[in-house]
Amino acid sequence: MPDEVLHWLQPRAGGVYLDGTLGGAGHARLILEAAAESRLIGLDRDPAALANAKEVLAPYGERVSLHHRTFAEASIVLAQLGVAGLDGMLLDLGVSSHQLDTAERGFSFMKEAPLDMRMDTTTGITAAEVVNTAEADELARIFFEYGEERFSRRIARRIVEVRQATPILTTTALADLVRGAVPRGRGPARIHPATRVFQALRIHVNGELDQVRQGVVAAIDLLKPGGRLVVISFHSLEDRLVKHMFRQEAVGCICPPRLPVCVCNHRPRVQVLTRKGVRASEEEVESNPRSRSAVLRAVERCGP
Ligand SMILES: C[S@@+](CC[C@H](N)C(=O)[O-])C[C@H]1O[C@@H](n2cnc3c(N)ncnc32)[C@H](O)[C@@H]1O
Repeated sequence: MPDEVLHWLQPRAGGVYLDGTLGGAGHARLILEAAAESRLIGLDRDPAALANAKEVLAPYGERVSLHHRTFAEASIVLAQLGVAGLDGMLLDLGVSSHQLDTAERGFSFMKEAPLDMRMDTTTGITAAEVVNTAEADELARIFFEYGEERFSRRIARRIVEVRQATPILTTTALADLVRGAVPRGRGPARIHPATRVFQALRIHVNGELDQVRQGVVAAIDLLKPGGRLVVISFHSLEDRLVKHMFRQEAVGCICPPRLPVCVCNHRPRVQVLTRKGVRASEEEVESNPRSRSAVLRAVERCGP
């Protein structure tokens, strides 16, 4: 959503911006081009994305500094750089097209690959470890909570049965198992029966919702008055969370209604700029079908 990002972030000449999800560095480059003499701090938890961003952003020299960190750790990076505050921050959540299309990363059930799904390949547990070791109740919770999968218990039970004979190690083995566990013709016909299970495992393996919770608070802490945070979500769980957190940060008094005067002195930290989530234009959806599910929300940090 390049036009929408520029519209809501409003990068200014000489400003300091943080892209917490560099990916292919398309948005990072856009910000650097739009704002003369701006500085861009770029983060990604995926070392491969970072290596690619280093090449793409090399022409901008000293204006760019790139770090292998999660966006929840943005304050550590700013402290190391001695940067006091940001004019804007972008979080373009989820996996990149490059990650999805690289079969061996294990994000897609369309191609056979090891069941990995870690965005940061240097740390953490893989999806295979979760699928082969978690209790049936835990698997069912993951599929229900993060995938809104109505057959979560049935799929979890089937996984436990199958893995007693053979460990489930590949994307296609898991996808076939899910297809066999779900009653035919009962799920939404449009999507593969394994779609929700794969989404759920990815969210769990990467702690994605915790990252959003911590990342949004960190971002608001780090913005200068007038600075903006723009978040793009790709599924409803994430978008609901972002919307809820923005609302909470935008409220003033939180005293119980029975009190005649305010005693909490709570002040809104942000103003919500996008009353409704902003969606990709028809043209963009046509040229990039994955943008169909993208929703953008933005806030501006209130004065001191
Ligand atoms: C949708 S892509 C970003 C695309 C990017 N805006 C562009 O223009 O190409 C998401 C990227 O964010 C990274 N990512 C996801 N969650 C992250 C987190 N919590 N901290 C740091 N990077 C994260 C992923 O590894 C992936 O490279």
